[in-house]
Amino acid sequence: MQSKDVSSLEQLQKSSRAGIVLGVLLVLLAFATIAACDVQRRKSDAELGLNSQQSAGRKIYDSQCDRCHEPYSSRGKKGPSLKGVFQQKYLSLSGLPANDDRVIDIIRLGRHEMPGYSQTLTSQDIQDLLVYLHTL
Ligand code: HEC
Repeated sequence: MQSKDVSSLEQLQKSSRAGIVLGVLLVLLAFATIAACDVQRRKSDAELGLNSQQSAGRKIYDSQCDRCHEPYSSRGKKGPSLKGVFQQKYLSLSGLPANDDRVIDIIRLGRHEMPGYSQTLTSQDIQDLLVYLHTL
């Protein structure tokens, strides 16, 4: 009888270990799925239908702006999302008119936490960037 008790205890321990292993695997699977979605969400320039100037602008965006601004989601990062930045009349945060002149000023001079890019980007770079921002 005693030996039966021990073996059912072992059984219980085994099955709870299996439960933990299964739990860990499920969590890992969930993370892998989220990571895969993130990769999938990144569309190629061709999928977005960008011409060569727009994709030149996208490269600049990815290297300079993306860490603080979401281009294709309305989620905020350090700065507000730039999804549809030129689709509305006014910029969402500052309330400035959403036009080329104001946005060029913000890029050149910066604003509050945002650095200015007059030393980093040429006026050609800024033109390319602006053409890309119009596709968002
Ligand atoms: C270090 C983070 C950071 C980087 C890098 C950055 N920005 Fe910003 N940006 C911000 C913040 C923060 C604001 C909000 C400023 C304010 O308080 O009005 C902002 C504001 C803006 C606005 C005005 C949005 C509004 O609704 O008023 C535009 C347009 C903009 N950024 C474009 C860009 C572009 C284009 C780049 C790349 C060249 C860039 N930003 C790089 C942080 C950043």
